Amino acid sequence: MAGTIILIGFMGAGKTSVGRALERRTGLPLLDTDQLIEEQAGMTISDIFAKKGEEEFRRAETEMLKKLAGREAENIVSTGGGLPLKEENRRALKRLGTVVYLRVRPGTVCRRLAGDNTRPLLAGDGGKERVQELMTARDPLYREAADLIIDTDGLTPSAIAEKIQQKMVENSNIIV
Ligand code: S3P
Repeated sequence: MAGTIILIGFMGAGKTSVGRALERRTGLPLLDTDQLIEEQAGMTISDIFAKKGEEEFRRAETEMLKKLAGREAENIVSTGGGLPLKEENRRALKRLGTVVYLRVRPGTVCRRLAGDNTRPLLAGDGGKERVQELMTARDPLYREAADLIIDTDGLTPSAIAEKIQQKMVENSNIIV
């Protein structure tokens, strides 16, 4: 699945929006791990966290990744922000295709997610400190998983998608 592009990064980094822009540009179908897990469970992520617990959600993420690895076709894959935290998942992501880390500043995340109640990990005291703390812990793991890192602040999803495509062409071994 050489052409598969996997988007990773923090909540609110724009993985879904950039995924849609890449889908438009490449014609490859967009798969969203959160959406697939919700469809499979027949309930929202918030309900899965509330009724079954985070551990069960993390187990579903790893299972979903295994399913995606079995697909023949190339895709754009948008992932939940916590998916690359498990080493097993980071290895599976690498095997799946090119892993792109969409890096974002904490302030941008807070602005984008103000009033959002669909992220259980940021519920309650989900202020800037919480975002900063989680991001500091996760950044090294996102970097470890990534083939490509894009600083996204101030860029539109379409401009980010263009950058990703450009970088993939530059990094490819194909001589034209
Ligand atoms: C999570 C991110 C969410 C979702 C769940 C947990 C995380 O996805 O998977 O709420 O641990 O960062 P988004 O990154 O799409 O918000």
